Amino acid sequence: MLYFPTITLDRSGSTSLSSQIAVRLRSSILLGEVRSGESLPSTRALAAVLGISRGSVVTAYDQLSGEGYLVSTQGAPTRVAVLLRGDPYQKPPSSVAASSRGQDTDLIDLTPGYPSTHRLSGPSWSAAWRTAAARPIPHTEPPLQGTRALRIKIAEHLRHARGVLCAAEDIVVTAGTSEALALVALALGESRRSGAQPESEPIPAPVVAVETPGYPAAARVLRRLGAILLPIPVEPDGMPTTILEDQASPPDAVLVTPSHQYPLGGRLPVDARLRLLRWAGHHNAWVLEDDYDSEFRHVGPPLPALASLDTDGRVVLIGSFSKILTPWLRLGYIVMPERQAVRAALLAVRRDLPCPVSGVLQDAATELLATGAVRRHIAAVRRDYAHRRNLVLDALSNHAGTTLTALDGGLHAVLEVTDQATARAAVRELLNRGIRVVNLETYSALPDGAAVPAGLVFGYAASTDTGLARALGHIREVTTRRY
Ligand SMILES: Cc1ncc(COP(=O)(O)O)c(C=O)c1O
Repeated sequence: MLYFPTITLDRSGSTSLSSQIAVRLRSSILLGEVRSGESLPSTRALAAVLGISRGSVVTAYDQLSGEGYLVSTQGAPTRVAVLLRGDPYQKPPSSVAASSRGQDTDLIDLTPGYPSTHRLSGPSWSAAWRTAAARPIPHTEPPLQGTRALRIKIAEHLRHARGVLCAAEDIVVTAGTSEALALVALALGESRRSGAQPESEPIPAPVVAVETPGYPAAARVLRRLGAILLPIPVEPDGMPTTILEDQASPPDAVLVTPSHQYPLGGRLPVDARLRLLRWAGHHNAWVLEDDYDSEFRHVGPPLPALASLDTDGRVVLIGSFSKILTPWLRLGYIVMPERQAVRAALLAVRRDLPCPVSGVLQDAATELLATGAVRRHIAAVRRDYAHRRNLVLDALSNHAGTTLTALDGGLHAVLEVTDQATARAAVRELLNRGIRVVNLETYSALPDGAAVPAGLVFGYAASTDTGLARALGHIREVTTRRY
């Protein structure tokens, strides 16, 4: 059945025509004026009736498709995807599940760390890949540090987005943060080899201080590459330098997420940053700055990267396109500090483990950065995430017995609960209901989840609005129960 909406547009107001159409259609769906499966008029027909350009209707339909209210299929009318009314425990319709991540089609997967990708399939994305594929194919492997063109564009991106001044020569392209950390772990070992030590002798294992709770994938890579971890329990603002200062034998490096502590969300204040740099200078340690989601700051301006305060050349800045585009690319980078010993160690390892990022991917990413597609994408998804973040705040900010945190930036939230038994039972019960979130205790770098508050961690970017709204209702319910 065709539903033809009645829409009155305000042409004098500050709200764009596409937003007004999206708001009207969204409320028609939520109020049940139009039902799941019903089709909408073509963008051309609706534009003609409203007397506006077709582009405004296309934008509104795209917006609602991305939020999960509409399903658009090539050659078929656009249809309404989901009605939220009715039994809150009904399985999510396949249209919602299909656009949430994961192989299980009924799952609403709120595993933290994943971005929204529905806006990536537009014309700029396709054009970048076409341009990359049309280039003459070199008969060599990509340069060890990555193509110069990509490194120039990454340096420009960092200057605009993070206030970091660096040059193409300072950058090493990596297959994401995990590969960057693997390089760094091996380079730390390399730098510990004393000048006189024969090549055949084993290198002493480097010790790396890590935040706990912290990023489990980082801890796994560092351990796998032979580093010994020194877990430091974080405070509300992030890594407390005082604990580093108290260590009888200081670590060789410290891994921090100063802009948005992962996963608890603290932001390391400037004086703590300076103190950390002073400590590192005093002990000749490396500072590994994982700057993974600073492009998405929702409250207050982002603090400058730690690397931009580093006058001593010892901060290794690690960045990734996993959050700003998608981890499907496996693309990231290291910005090497000025210190020659650090650069030499990193480049020595890169010579033995050459750049694993395909030249075609590097060319496409260069195009995306050069044409402004990355900048536009960040601006667009930032608006989507602000809206989703509001859904999270509306559902959980005044939820008795819990504390909602980590929402000042990034794409995930933490809901602290009263005790571990509640956290464990809630994660289990949510999975029974087809919703995946993660127990905060799994982020501990200490045995048995020690030194970590009880809570749930969930991402709000990758699911649809409707999937998220449904999941939030369940999260609220399962964390109200007594277990
Ligand atoms: C703390 C942190 N660092 C870095 C990343 C990005 O990792 P990668 O570039 O390996 O995908 C993530 C992604 O979830 C993260 O949570």
